[in-house]
Amino acid sequence: MLTDNQIFAAPLAGVTDRPFRRIVREFAPNAPIVTEMISCHSLVGGHKNCLRNFDRYDDEAPIGAQIFGADKDLMAEAARMLQDAGAGWIDINMGCPVPKVATRAGAGAFLMRDHKLAGQIMHDVVRAVKIPVSIKTRLGWDSEHTDWRDLLGIAADCGVRFATLHGRTRAQLYLGPAVWPDVSDCPIPVIANGDIKNADDAMRAMRLGYSGVMIGRAMLGRPWIIGCMAGGDAPDKIGDVVLRHLDYAVEYYGAAVAVPMFRKHAAWYSAGMPNSADFRIRVNRIVDVSELRDAICEFWGCDLPCQIL
Ligand SMILES: Cc1cc2nc3c(=O)[nH]c(=O)nc-3n(C[C@H](O)[C@H](O)[C@H](O)COP(=O)(O)O)c2cc1C
Repeated sequence: MLTDNQIFAAPLAGVTDRPFRRIVREFAPNAPIVTEMISCHSLVGGHKNCLRNFDRYDDEAPIGAQIFGADKDLMAEAARMLQDAGAGWIDINMGCPVPKVATRAGAGAFLMRDHKLAGQIMHDVVRAVKIPVSIKTRLGWDSEHTDWRDLLGIAADCGVRFATLHGRTRAQLYLGPAVWPDVSDCPIPVIANGDIKNADDAMRAMRLGYSGVMIGRAMLGRPWIIGCMAGGDAPDKIGDVVLRHLDYAVEYYGAAVAVPMFRKHAAWYSAGMPNSADFRIRVNRIVDVSELRDAICEFWGCDLPCQIL
């Protein structure tokens, strides 16, 4: 059985924001959680429209702040800013496949094609901060270029403390089964990622030499999964968890932003339950937060339309 400090919560843009992380920690207090990816340009440029540029992490531990970008000076500066904001470690995104990041910005997964630039970024970020630095990468750019071992070797030489390996190439995006290669002879600890959904998957990965596992999509609608994989119980009253998550989101974003943003969470929480399609249709029309609370209470049969904050 793994303990919750060996089971990482993956960075999921649009999902693992502060309210979601708060819910995950209620079930797995020691789980290392990685923030959504943060653009070094947006952070260093002080872009005001991005709330997460102003997050503080002092009350969240353990937490890794993930940055992406292709400019080593901005990446180093962003890392320093996040260290000052209380991050426990810095994670460098070297796996994001979306064109805006990987092709247009030359960041994320593109760094798997340019190991020289990747090395410069890792070198400068490691030297810019006192906290540990990790990377999150994939097997390679495509099936012809699965050179993740070379990148991990460069990472080790630069002083990167550990790496997360998503067992797919950039070309695969999120499709096809993930493969976890044996990492027993890697120079730094490696965390397995990709399709890990339960404790058995996690144990299979650990037998291949991994130091921990990272859970992504299996957390959607089930923020308690890491707690359960570490031996905890799933909640009896899911509706109460959904309401708490909503309240945290309202506190963080304000109701006008939180209500439409919460629709996807409501869909994930209700997936596979009887009448979930009707519930989704209803929730997608709701703009008022008390109406949303009522809909959640009705769907899960909560006792009270509680507002806990
Ligand atoms: C909606 C979504 C958002 C994601 N955002 C990020 C991100 O911000 N940074 C990152 O490194 N990976 C991101 N990923 C990739 C995940 O962290 C993870 O590597 C991938 O989903 C495979 O793990 P899984 O099979 O457990 O989901 C994202 C994936 C999804 C589906």
